[in-house]
Amino acid sequence: MTNVETMLHRVRPDLLAMKPSALRAFDEEVSAIPGIIKLTLGEPDFNTPEHIKQAGIRSIEQNHTHYPQAAGIPALREAAAGFLNEKYRLHYTPEEIIVTVGATEAIWASLGALIQPGDKVIVPIPAWGLYMNVIELLGATPVFINTEPDGYELNPEKLRAVLDENGDSVRALVLNFPNNPTGKTLRRPKLQAIADVLKDYPVFAIADEVYSELTFGESHVSLAELLPEQTLLLNGVSKSHAMTGWRIGVIAGAQPIIDQVFKFHQASVTSAAYPMEDAAVEAFTAGKDDGREMAQDYEKRGRFLYQALVDLGFDVVEPEGAFYLYCKVPAWLNEDEATFCRRLAYEAQVAVSAGTAFGPSGKNHFRISYASSLADLKEAARRIGVYLEKRRAE
Ligand SMILES: Cc1ncc(COP(=O)(O)O)c(C=O)c1O
Repeated sequence: MTNVETMLHRVRPDLLAMKPSALRAFDEEVSAIPGIIKLTLGEPDFNTPEHIKQAGIRSIEQNHTHYPQAAGIPALREAAAGFLNEKYRLHYTPEEIIVTVGATEAIWASLGALIQPGDKVIVPIPAWGLYMNVIELLGATPVFINTEPDGYELNPEKLRAVLDENGDSVRALVLNFPNNPTGKTLRRPKLQAIADVLKDYPVFAIADEVYSELTFGESHVSLAELLPEQTLLLNGVSKSHAMTGWRIGVIAGAQPIIDQVFKFHQASVTSAAYPMEDAAVEAFTAGKDDGREMAQDYEKRGRFLYQALVDLGFDVVEPEGAFYLYCKVPAWLNEDEATFCRRLAYEAQVAVSAGTAFGPSGKNHFRISYASSLADLKEAARRIGVYLEKRRAE
């Protein structure tokens, strides 16, 4: 007899086998711990700037409640092109921009437009787990390059070797910098060396630069400046303007390619939401430097926590952007990353994320999101110190 159980087995098997985000599941689990300091999710602790919120409110009042243009309202495509061009020395026309439902949909639309089952996509790891999910759901295979031996930067020679080895089956490389989860970024000389390799192959570079405005020190250089024909540039307002809940991202690329990506976007979501698009116009114009102010604050917090963890004996990647610290589980604890994170949450009331959410090289690593108040970070560092002492005494 047909029942829900039978029907469940008719759902695609690879989806049935896929686990929901372990990172979110752990975050939800530890939320119940009294007094927990959660340094788990990649969520800015700033509120959306007031002038942007007002633009959203005005939009609703003006009855911008109907379908907007599928590729985005013209004002937003123009504002996004202006923002990217001014900040990162690019030359996009508004027609070369698509407005998406967060950078997440930008990843779907760009990979969805390029990849067929059986293709391969190069992913330097550690990397944000969503890439792996999308690649696999599209029937493609991720080819990992572990960046850890190269100071968490993609090594151009290793990239060349992987491209040569895998030949025509490689459709794209996904490159995220500043990086989630390492907090490292790629500076111009290394990025140029990577672009020089990519130029020799007909491979797309999907440059996820959503943390571009949250770069510390020298300002961000975009891969799109160095490799315009092959790059699909992803960005958005989620991280730069503390607008994660508004769900606005953008894809920029050469017109003929963008025209194809547009079809995938339109078939998936029709469009992003109109009031959110109006608010994003404000973010990319009057609010174009809002993110730089937040970056200064994140940098202070990142430097504080980096030093505090180094002083406690942790092996930590020095942060250059975004709001993450990537650390090794101390070997003397003799436990894997999942046990470390669970015990730290229940015994010290500090929650961090297991590194395996970011690919297989994340074994024995964990990520801290430091988009929390300095007071919370100080208390978290204190608790971790006390906890380690307790563990040493065991
Ligand atoms: C590297 C990276 N890209 C994209 C996103 C998603 O951005 P959005 O919230 O705009 O979908 C995230 C969110 O954590 C991220 O870390």
